[in-house]
Amino acid sequence: MRPDATMIPARTRSPDDTRELAASLAELAQSGDLLLLVGDLGAGKTTFTQGFAAALGISEPVTSPTFTLAREYDGRLLLHHLDVFRLDQISEVLDLGLPELLDSDGVILIEWGDAIRQALPNDYLEVALTFIEGQPSPPDERIVVLTPVGSRWQARADDLAAAIEQWMESPPC
Ligand SMILES: Nc1ncnc2c1ncn2[C@@H]1O[C@H](COP(=O)(O)OP(=O)(O)O)[C@@H](O)[C@H]1O
Ligand SMILES: [Mg+2]
Repeated sequence: MRPDATMIPARTRSPDDTRELAASLAELAQSGDLLLLVGDLGAGKTTFTQGFAAALGISEPVTSPTFTLAREYDGRLLLHHLDVFRLDQISEVLDLGLPELLDSDGVILIEWGDAIRQALPNDYLEVALTFIEGQPSPPDERIVVLTPVGSRWQARADDLAAAIEQWMESPPC
């Protein structure tokens, strides 16, 4: 990650809250955008994708693409949804799918995208979801940190902050 990247910290309080945050971000999405969804199992990467997809006008249910390389959904923009949790998924994406995928129209969301970061262009929005450490935080809270990497997303940093203002923890550093 670039050291000059701006981090925008936010907090959500329920699965629907995460979906709404994702929906707000989807309003800013453009064809060619890449989002890396980072976080442990159960952190909310698929939940985020569901909200993002809904805001693009996609009515199909969005689930983790566990047994296919990428799921494609048709909305205001095409949405390509990938999950590279398993090693075979990583190698498949690196060996076969990636150049074609990066060349295609639409927005790409990659769960566990940090696992293939070195093979991706240095132009993406990282969305890191984490559980809140310690008690008594309710289990339905998540910290969501947005990091725009590269000029494509850094140019939209102010718009990103405005889009998720209601969830923001503190002003961007
Ligand atoms: N604030 C929250 N944001 C997202 N998911 C949440 C939140 N609070 C609870 N959850 C629950 O956590 C789980 C997240 O699952 P999922 O989105 O599949 O995670 P991942 O794709 O990161 O493995 C879901 O069961 C969801 O209902
Ligand atoms: Mg998932």
